[in-house]
Amino acid sequence: MENLLKKIEGYRNEIAAFTALDAKAVEEFRIKWLGTRGIVKEIMGAMKNVAADKKKEAGQLLNEFKLFAENKYAQLKETTINHQPDTSTQIDLTLPGDDIPLGSRHPVTLMRNRIVSIFQRLGFAVAEGPEIEDDWHNFGALNLPEHHPARDMQDTFYIQQNPDFLLRTHTSNVQIREMEKGVLPIRGIYPGRVYRNETVSARSHCFFHQVEGLYIDENVSFADLKQTLYFFVKEMYGKDVKVRFRPSYFPFTEPSAEMDVSCFICGGEGCSVCKKTGWVEILGCGMVHPNVLSNCGIDPNKYTGFAFGMGIERPAMLKYGINDIRLFSENDVRFLKQFTSAI
Ligand code: PHE
Repeated sequence: MENLLKKIEGYRNEIAAFTALDAKAVEEFRIKWLGTRGIVKEIMGAMKNVAADKKKEAGQLLNEFKLFAENKYAQLKETTINHQPDTSTQIDLTLPGDDIPLGSRHPVTLMRNRIVSIFQRLGFAVAEGPEIEDDWHNFGALNLPEHHPARDMQDTFYIQQNPDFLLRTHTSNVQIREMEKGVLPIRGIYPGRVYRNETVSARSHCFFHQVEGLYIDENVSFADLKQTLYFFVKEMYGKDVKVRFRPSYFPFTEPSAEMDVSCFICGGEGCSVCKKTGWVEILGCGMVHPNVLSNCGIDPNKYTGFAFGMGIERPAMLKYGINDIRLFSENDVRFLKQFTSAI
């Protein structure tokens, strides 16, 4: 009995000190102590050698020891399952990062930034407006009442559920929204995407981009418009490019003009880009119509202003030698990665 006590004491110490790092060590523990040929079984078998009057006491001791071993086993199992390092999500924070390929800007973005930055240098502030617009901001306020024939100049996508709303056909809606704010003077430049129900081809698309400019103050004249645009052309196309204004018609400007620059591809001699005319049309412009000012709550007797609007795709196509407008919206990386901001 004394011997048995000592033995159990030793075993208990051994079990108490045991630690396992993984499931394999836990299993080895089970086999050693609780297995069919394990130590617990073995000393249970030693019971038969205990004197009859000590059997009860010894039995209790052995049972306690068995329970002790079983508890330890349960505890080992628990800790190794819960704390086993999960190798599937383990991250080595010391590894160098993956290279993220450097993208390039879209040619339309490059051209837009270029145009906008020239006007920003003259103090024009950038603003944007909604692409889904109501009839008033896209047409009505711009002196294009319902059934006005000039609405046909721009073939419009209407929203089916509510034809009072449409996809804006030009960025002129931003003019109206800025004027409505009533903070004068206004000197703004408004880039954005516009939509027209046109057949998609190499030369035209049902959506494209424009930049609109607006200047409203006291005593703004057509001379201011011309000087502003002369500056733009010089910065954009170089000193030697010539400019001409042709009378035109827009309901929201009076007088109205279209501006051409001498063909910067052939230098004015005549090529396929300028269709042998020597001139390339760049933008539409004019003095803001008094009706438009009144529609926006601005007194046309006190204030005057000019506005202009130009496309972005066409100058970008000329600049980069792109011969199909559809390429801009196909998202082909082979096309997109060719353009750099160094223009
Ligand atoms: N909104 C006109 C168009 O889309 C361009 C324009 C803007 C003309 C401002 C004159 C003044 O064609």
